[in-house]
Amino acid sequence: MCGIVGYIGSKEAYPILIKGLKRLEYRGYDSAGVAILNDSLNVYKKKGKVNDLIKSIGESNTQGKTGIGHTRWATHGIPDDNNAHPHMSGSERLVIIHNGIIENYSTIKIWLESQGHTFKSETDTEVLIHLIEEIQEEGGLLIEEAVRLALTKVVGAYAIAVIDRLDPNKIVAARKSSPLVVGIGEGEFFIASDATPIVEYTNQVVYLDDNEIAVVSIEEGLKVMNIKKEIQIPLIHEIDLKIEAIEKEGYDYFMHKEIYEQPTTIADCMRGRLNVQEGWVRLGGLSQYKNRISKANRIIIVACGTSWHSGLIAEYLIEDLARIPVEVEYASEFRYRNPIISENDVVIAISQSGETADTLAALELAKRMGALTFGICNVVGSSIARVTDAGSYIHAGPEIGVASTKAFTGQVTLLSLLALSLANEKGTISRSQYQEYITELGQIPAKVKAALSCNERVKEISTKIQNTTNALYLGRGYNFPVALEGALKLKEISYIHAEGYPAAEMKHGPIALIDENMPVFVIATNVSAHEKIVSNIQEVKARKGVVIAVVNEGDKILEKIADYIIEIPSTLEPFTPLLSVIPMQLLSYHIAVMRGCNVDQPRNLAKSVTVE
Ligand code: M6R
Repeated sequence: MCGIVGYIGSKEAYPILIKGLKRLEYRGYDSAGVAILNDSLNVYKKKGKVNDLIKSIGESNTQGKTGIGHTRWATHGIPDDNNAHPHMSGSERLVIIHNGIIENYSTIKIWLESQGHTFKSETDTEVLIHLIEEIQEEGGLLIEEAVRLALTKVVGAYAIAVIDRLDPNKIVAARKSSPLVVGIGEGEFFIASDATPIVEYTNQVVYLDDNEIAVVSIEEGLKVMNIKKEIQIPLIHEIDLKIEAIEKEGYDYFMHKEIYEQPTTIADCMRGRLNVQEGWVRLGGLSQYKNRISKANRIIIVACGTSWHSGLIAEYLIEDLARIPVEVEYASEFRYRNPIISENDVVIAISQSGETADTLAALELAKRMGALTFGICNVVGSSIARVTDAGSYIHAGPEIGVASTKAFTGQVTLLSLLALSLANEKGTISRSQYQEYITELGQIPAKVKAALSCNERVKEISTKIQNTTNALYLGRGYNFPVALEGALKLKEISYIHAEGYPAAEMKHGPIALIDENMPVFVIATNVSAHEKIVSNIQEVKARKGVVIAVVNEGDKILEKIADYIIEIPSTLEPFTPLLSVIPMQLLSYHIAVMRGCNVDQPRNLAKSVTVE
């Protein structure tokens, strides 16, 4: 939540900051701002999107070779010009941008007020920059030392960048529980929440660790120390991120592009891990711990949102194929409910961003309690990827649309590989079943491509239901989590109330909602539950509900009873979610476009939820 970017070097900072903010806008988009240093410190900020900021800056002076920028997802204080970042210190000597929450800000604020400080915004961030200034002036300190001392007094999460007008050749940055990357170019440095604003200038980056403070200056280069003032040796990583991966490439929305990328991203996720000819599955990240995981008492999966839905599918996959008990927990509940975790448990965290605050905290709790931790992330070098004992990336490439699509199918692909690998290790499936699953998995990218050809049909159905105010999604077995995912997709980008339910549970309550105005999406591709699903659909039809069924190609039975059908290729039951989710994604996309919603930046949301 919130994107931060900084530049110091020989180029004009403003265009780099604006481009960077546009790349980071998916992290928050209720206001934006920049601070540019030349002879003076010029701060421009505006409620709304980065384009609103650009308009409001107009022809004002943006010259300067050092600057910082911010795109906000509001926590403390409503989204308006005043609460937008950057924030200045009382004397206007210092300026800060911040991603995170300073939890003890009100205590610090009361103390600062008693020292004569007055504040212009309602933010926790403004309190922090006043604290830094107070400490700096009190001790006559360099800005990096004042930042360090101030951070020892702060409780909470932060990624910050600070400029001191009177010490103009440096930017000071620091992180705790919010991501921060330093890019190292030729005579220039970049600071950003992730690598996307940096990638077109350099592929050399340093990921700051928690409690680290970086000072970048043209004269002295990059210096890193920790909060105890111990010098750290920065580890330089080479990133492999192509610029096309973060561009829309002709699509109107990133979400649309990301839906269509799935045949490729699923294949990328399997590359080098699945060999159909030789008949094996191998997960490099698992090798060292395969024995321990296959002998685990149980696997606990922690995740949020769409990643939690992938976790539910993993419960079916791992229990079904590898016969290891699995529990799936909302990370936000798990971390606060005093869970029982033992050294024989394995805790798997699933997270696209690898930065979700609750998932990270749940993982840290599990680690403290002795469990083996395994991360399934998309963003390379993210906090969860670095904190876990082992893990595997899904290799889906940057996912920028707030609604998760290709990360979901990447996670489910990876979890399918994991389940198969564990099943083979444990001998819970026969050699021929193993081979059959491997062969089918190898077909999935082509089948996803074929499933995408339902687009026109989905669009046609979307026109008929775009004005609904409610929708119900039903599925059984492997398709129950897909029902939840379909409902979440519709809610978050179309603002239509939707609920996902196990189809058989419907008669324990939600059936009361059904009338001729209620569209009911039924995901009916799992063959083993077909007859039962047919009965559930009959129950809906008997109450005049409008049934839209996702079916396997050639399903003559459902063709007769459903109002609309969407056909997709069939597959083995454990892999059905990889195909049945495709029409769900397209449906929410088309309905959102038809309703005039901003698909990539839905209201109130942010891509990466780095606060509790
Ligand atoms: O980055 P993560 O996978 O940890 O994010 C978890 C959720 O915030 C995320 O899946 C969210 O629910 C998406 N907007 C769903 O489309």
